[in-house]
Amino acid sequence: MSALTPNPVRGRLNSVFFALMSGYINQRLARHKRKIFPRTTGVVAEIGAGNGPNLRYLPPKTTVHAIEPNPYFHKRLERAAARHDIDLIIHPVPGEAIDLPDASVDAVLCTWVLCTVDDPAQVLREIHRILRPGGQLAFVEHVAAPHGPVRRIQRLVRRPWRWAFEGCHTDRDTAAAIRATGFASVDITNFRFRSTFVPVRTQIAGTALR
Ligand SMILES: C[S@@+](CC[C@H](N)C(=O)[O-])C[C@H]1O[C@@H](n2cnc3c(N)ncnc32)[C@H](O)[C@@H]1O
Repeated sequence: MSALTPNPVRGRLNSVFFALMSGYINQRLARHKRKIFPRTTGVVAEIGAGNGPNLRYLPPKTTVHAIEPNPYFHKRLERAAARHDIDLIIHPVPGEAIDLPDASVDAVLCTWVLCTVDDPAQVLREIHRILRPGGQLAFVEHVAAPHGPVRRIQRLVRRPWRWAFEGCHTDRDTAAAIRATGFASVDITNFRFRSTFVPVRTQIAGTALR
């Protein structure tokens, strides 16, 4: 999607799709998210927060700045925040230009977003900028398979996939982009998303410390 102008049909459909798939996705990603997400309250920014499937992992009363340019996600995001007792502030801006001051957040969350943003390197620079020294980025992202049949399928479907999912790339090397950002340390685990959605089978989860 072009950051501030989601397609009125696909923008809505994506919100509904991820609401319907939330249980399925969560079941497969929960153990990775539990391992890396912050456990103490503090100020958190979430890039591309979507319908808010990650809010359930945060302690109640956590302040979350949701950087979410697609307005069709906002209602469900607000409802998820109310359900999980999260203090939510929605910023309808792209991750490439976050309207938060330098070193102003303790943690940043990013799940299935660096695949979709227009400029992942710029989003990662913005994440690094808003994190306080010692603050942590926690991420789960689907990435390019190294080679073989999954990579071939990712290549085959990339155009229709990008169109349907508002800019989502099946074949980004997100681990390399995170490592190139200048974090003090980066810890990445590769895993398989066991699902019929083959193009998103190869995943990474991890943390990066500012
Ligand atoms: C695949 S959805 C993932 C949503 C949620 N993080 C999750 O795990 O279900 C991609 C999200 O990234 C958002 N997004 C797209 N372009 C963006 C950008 N440039 N900056 C920030 N978020 C963006 C979309 O609006 C959408 O909420």
